Amino acid sequence: MNDSLNLKDYIREIPDFPKPGILFRDITPLLAEPKAFQAVVDRLADYYRDKQITAILAAEARGFIFAAPLALALGARFIPIRKPGKLPFETRAFHYELEYGSDSLEMHTDSIHSDDRVVIVDDLLATGGTISACIELARHSNAEIVGCAFLIELAFLNGREKMNGCDVFSLIHYD
Ligand code: PRP
Ligand code: ADE
Repeated sequence: MNDSLNLKDYIREIPDFPKPGILFRDITPLLAEPKAFQAVVDRLADYYRDKQITAILAAEARGFIFAAPLALALGARFIPIRKPGKLPFETRAFHYELEYGSDSLEMHTDSIHSDDRVVIVDDLLATGGTISACIELARHSNAEIVGCAFLIELAFLNGREKMNGCDVFSLIHYD
């Protein structure tokens, strides 16, 4: 594993995207460097390896990018949480606010169970609206939420405070 790699070096900052006043943290340079992408998956897998994780949940689209390889690395199920109208089976929905708008997310009602130990993964924690919606969806099933994992945490937006004591693990912080 590449322990010395500084992941922040692979995040590009784009001012005023998608709206004026938002400094967008662009992960595409990191995704385009296999050593950096692999280091993210390895560091997340190391943190959760001994925690008997059975399912990794993630919201589309950017959450999927890290959640799918992490699920494979841990031998856990990958459970997609999607924007409205995308999942074909019976769904449960939750409405939430974003740093730049609002949206809803849906999860299949049969995807996780009370005996699951889940980690919820996203690329970035900003206001915490998206992850709170995922936590609410997961709580319905009475699964154990072992934690929430992020590549990037925008600490100055205090998203952690919305997460009701859920363990948070993030690899890059902006204060
Ligand atoms: C982004 C990001 C997180 C969320 C973080 O997703 O991937 O899911 O915002 O913001 P929050 O903590 O304020 O909720 P976005 O809704 O832009 O969708 P995308 O993954 O489809 O790009
Ligand atoms: N999602 C929410 N806020 C964001 C930001 N500042 N950069 C990238 N993705 C985001």
